[in-house]
Amino acid sequence: MACGCAERIDEELLEPFLSQEGINAKGNLIAILQKAQDIYGYLPAEILAYIARRTGIKPAKIMSVVTFYTQFRLKPVGKNLILLCQGTACHVNGSTVIEGAIQDTLGVGEGDISPDGLFTYNNVACIGCCSLAPVMMIGEKAYGGLTKAKAAQILKGIGQEQEGREGQEGQGQAGREGAAV
Ligand code: FES
Repeated sequence: MACGCAERIDEELLEPFLSQEGINAKGNLIAILQKAQDIYGYLPAEILAYIARRTGIKPAKIMSVVTFYTQFRLKPVGKNLILLCQGTACHVNGSTVIEGAIQDTLGVGEGDISPDGLFTYNNVACIGCCSLAPVMMIGEKAYGGLTKAKAAQILKGIGQEQEGREGQEGQGQAGREGAAV
């Protein structure tokens, strides 16, 4: 998943996928959009325009597909995308309280990137594990039986773990550069 930093969008990264035999057929639009989102982390306007040019599909048609499916994102996201369930079971078990805890912990509203670049949260409909309500998913993992404190603790734990890992990688890089001088 991309980090969401402001960086140049390289259309060529999508080209190997678009160049595969048969991939430009109009029936492949969803697969193309999924691949683009895998590469860039979201669907930048430049890439949607590029897909329109390369496939001959009208931009309005592409946009109608992008906005129809909730899986597609038009904005960059943090490294960890939190899907907070607001389905019925989660709602009656306090998902709005959990949303408040997420906002307090990250300091951002829905769809925004936390200042450290690590998180974005989105409210979603039922994610299929109602017996664990209230639930959020981060990456592939579901966190259930959430309380305000538990949600905050999970986010802080992931944040500390990832910042620690990046710090170690930075030190390793600096060490290698120092050794190379
Ligand atoms: S309502 Fe939240 S997982 Fe089903």
